[in-house]
Amino acid sequence: MTMTWNGYTFDILIDEARLQARIKELGQQISADYAGQRLLLLCILKGGVLFLTDLMRNLSIPHEIDFLAVSSYGKEIRESTGVVRILKDLDEPIEGIHVLIVEDIIDTGHTLTYITNILQARRPASLKICTLLDKTERRRVEIPVDYVGFPIPDKFVFGYGLDLDEKFRNLPYIAVMTE
Ligand code: IMP
Ligand code: MG
Repeated sequence: MTMTWNGYTFDILIDEARLQARIKELGQQISADYAGQRLLLLCILKGGVLFLTDLMRNLSIPHEIDFLAVSSYGKEIRESTGVVRILKDLDEPIEGIHVLIVEDIIDTGHTLTYITNILQARRPASLKICTLLDKTERRRVEIPVDYVGFPIPDKFVFGYGLDLDEKFRNLPYIAVMTE
């Protein structure tokens, strides 16, 4: 199904039902894996927000949340450079806490490599990564990913938290630009 909006043409890559079904599975898996532990979901703003809230609703264990905002690259530039700036740091220390990073997408891996290096220095009990989308072909730096929603091809995607030039984050599905 091809759609157009203000001159943009796009297709649905992952529809709402598939997204929600997979997030439910991830929620069950994470609930089992972290049972009895103090768990902090660490959402990377802004793209991870919709995923975070749906994942929370599918967790059956107590958990806390916190947010980290970084700029991986500027508006209208679509490849990250490895130069990452922290725009908003965590509210609380994470020492001794099991931290699960909730991210929208891993592309080159530069952003998460930078973030995990900073967070490891704060001595969490554990530090794992949960990403909704994984563009495995695009990886430039090796990074262990513990939970993946969907591996996706090397195409620019948006919707469900991810933006196309700061727009379309509200779409309930993952869309892909058509050539
Ligand atoms: P990395 O440092 O290359 O892994 O970039 C990760 C970040 O780039 C993600 O958190 C997204 O914010 C952004 N990004 C990468 N690919 C896409 C895409 O296809 N659509 C929207 N944002 C993307
Ligand atoms: Mg992001």
